[in-house]
Amino acid sequence: MNFDLTEDQLMIQQAAREFAEAEIAPSAVERDKKAEFPTEIIKKLGELGFMGMMVSPEFDGAGLDAVSYVLAMIEFSKADASVGVILSVNNSLVCYGLEKFGSDFIKNKYLRPLAKGEKLGAFALSEPEAGSDATQQATTAFKDGDHWVINGMKNWTTNGTSADYYLVVAQTDKEKAHHGITTFIVEKGTEGFTHGAKEDKLGIKSSDTCSLMFENVRVPEENIIWEVGKGFNFAMNTLNGGRIGIASQAVGIAEASLEASIKYSKQRKSFGTEIANHQAIQFKLADMAVKIENAKLITLKAASLKDNGKKYVKEAAMAKLYASKIAVECALEAIQIHGGYGYVREYLVERYLRDAKVTEIYEGTSEIQKIVIARDLLKG
Ligand code: CAA
Repeated sequence: MNFDLTEDQLMIQQAAREFAEAEIAPSAVERDKKAEFPTEIIKKLGELGFMGMMVSPEFDGAGLDAVSYVLAMIEFSKADASVGVILSVNNSLVCYGLEKFGSDFIKNKYLRPLAKGEKLGAFALSEPEAGSDATQQATTAFKDGDHWVINGMKNWTTNGTSADYYLVVAQTDKEKAHHGITTFIVEKGTEGFTHGAKEDKLGIKSSDTCSLMFENVRVPEENIIWEVGKGFNFAMNTLNGGRIGIASQAVGIAEASLEASIKYSKQRKSFGTEIANHQAIQFKLADMAVKIENAKLITLKAASLKDNGKKYVKEAAMAKLYASKIAVECALEAIQIHGGYGYVREYLVERYLRDAKVTEIYEGTSEIQKIVIARDLLKG
């Protein structure tokens, strides 16, 4: 077994780290306070190829492997987890899904600008009454000539107000249950398609999350991804990769928590010495480091399986389950190490906790990840 990263992977990691430190981290606190979308940063990330990292160059992507994607995602999320989720949705859910399941028409018209970062994508599966139980789609679409007509509502859509293209899952034949679900691409500005206000969230405040409303929205037949009745399978397949992205985001938050804790514990003094010299603090730092190493390894393993064309459903779920759990734990420990200073906005660590919590919720809650893992184990 070889744990060494390749030259290319190290280069991507370094490039992402330099960009994150120079361009993302300095303004992260302000953006969080103002709940401001990082428009300029996303534009620059697009120009550098980070919005379509795993898309092949044939469709204007960077052609990177999933391991490089994880490494870059960790660096960006370490600086600002909001940037992390914007990237994760565009790369893992939208671009990956379109390249793997889209027609040539879809790849040329929609994937190319998404991969170049000229357009932004969103993934609309969840609904007010269909979150974990994603088969219960109340949004419907019926065929009318060479178009489909969508009616319904989606919520918790990341990139909801900023996106240009939306992958929208809808029930097209209720009798066929999940085999009667279809996914469509809907362009912003299509008549009858509107979005709600940005949600006022606990964390990842500079990523925009909102509801989407569809009132007789007409979409051409060629905007169907994969085929009619494959929409649920499409969503499940893309979410596997999405979970690697969110696991990476969580690792990034945990690493940021540890780095802040190391820095602070070398500066802060108590009982006549830097608190880093107290075992109580050293044990916390050691525990955080072990958890982060484990989370990173399982996330990279899931990515490596994906790169090698092997099954990675269980490993992606394990990575998300574990990395999100330890991101919350590490952020909490970072606050504890900072004492009262950890509880105020002046220091970064309270944001890490607010940002970490959602990684246990979106793209499948921790409870859903356990179902995915257990089903795989019981399959025999
Ligand atoms: N990968 C590929 N296929 C899968 C799959 C997976 N992980 N999980 C299920 N499937 C397929 C099955 O093979 C089956 O296919 P066929 O019937 O064609 O053979 C089909 O899906 C149905 O499978 P199940 O009977 O297992 O489905 P279920 O109703 O029991 O649900 C579930 C399974 C795992 C609970 C699933 O509903 C699930 O993952 N729920 C969570 C949904 C989720 O993650 N939502 C987040 C939305 S995105 C978001 O968070 C917002 C954002 O913008 C970031």
